[in-house]
Amino acid sequence: MASRSEAKARAFAKDNDAHVYYDSYQALAKDPKVDIVYVATPHVFHAEHTLLCLKQNKAVLCEKPIAMNVFQFKTMQEAAKSNNCFLMEGLWTNFMPHLQKVHELIQQNTYGHCLKMEADFSFKAEFDPYKRLFNKNLGGGALLDIGIYPVYLALKLLGLPQDIEASCEYSSTGVDASNQIEFKYANGASAQLSSSFLKTTASQAKVYFEEAVVEFGSRFHETDKFTIKTDTGTQSFDYNYPANGYQFEIEHVHRCLHRGLVQSPEMSLEASYQLISTLDEIRHKMGLQYKEDKPYKE
Ligand SMILES: NC(=O)c1ccc[n+]([C@@H]2O[C@H](COP(=O)([O-])OP(=O)(O)OC[C@H]3O[C@@H](n4cnc5c(N)ncnc54)[C@H](OP(=O)(O)O)[C@@H]3O)[C@@H](O)[C@H]2O)c1
Repeated sequence: MASRSEAKARAFAKDNDAHVYYDSYQALAKDPKVDIVYVATPHVFHAEHTLLCLKQNKAVLCEKPIAMNVFQFKTMQEAAKSNNCFLMEGLWTNFMPHLQKVHELIQQNTYGHCLKMEADFSFKAEFDPYKRLFNKNLGGGALLDIGIYPVYLALKLLGLPQDIEASCEYSSTGVDASNQIEFKYANGASAQLSSSFLKTTASQAKVYFEEAVVEFGSRFHETDKFTIKTDTGTQSFDYNYPANGYQFEIEHVHRCLHRGLVQSPEMSLEASYQLISTLDEIRHKMGLQYKEDKPYKE
């Protein structure tokens, strides 16, 4: 663990039973004994802190969103390539058993084509213009913080949309306090996606197939339960795993490093590219720009 403050790093290390800590991110990146760094600073620092580590030949697991925009992402991707280092976006929900199972059912075309999806992730956040969620200088806003989960669910299960519509309500700090997004697909399928800091909802997701409806429990991104309803009845799945679910992502990263991979086969840099490009396009439709953005290209 590393912090910009020695006292904070020491206290955090003590609380978490760690024997080693660093009083700067630079010191962490330089330590030859470190194999991999988990970058969990606010979004606007993901590119800077990932590059710091990659340049010291460290593998990096970077929190979501991997970057503020596609321009930053490309720099990170190039640095990973030129240093031959592992880089993966920490989109932990990708490794959850419920999502893996539904993805598998789609690959096997078990219930016919996917016709429609609905996914929402919302909670009432305390308004503080200085803290990360509403602070534009720290990359605040619902889309990049929690809207990324419904967006990723649609990309994972339905693929890249042909067309995107999006709108949002702005907070007084100039970030999206809530948003509504529609993905339209060439085959007629659609996805209704939303996220908000203004109200707490059940944060559920439903996927409608030709022959079944898959319903994820609340909250859909972290649930261990889902049901499949067909004409003949309802099948319930309950994975009932211990801890909060981060273990699936952590185990996957360990396996990648043991195999000497520089990319995850399950959360590839191409998947991250598609995700960040889609988020860029949604922001363009909502009219939301950050200081890190360059002019948007259609
Ligand atoms: N996977 C998940 O479930 C999940 C959940 C929450 C958040 N996240 C992601 O994790 C990232 C961090 O979120 P968070 O809520 O933990 O953020 P946060 O508490 O606001 O910041 C995390 C740490 O970043 C460090 N930091 C470095 N430079 C900073 C600066 N200039 N200003 C403020 N902090 C700075 C601070 O550590 P020091 O002061 O010790 O240096 C701070 O404690 C975000 O990108 C978010 O999307 C993921």
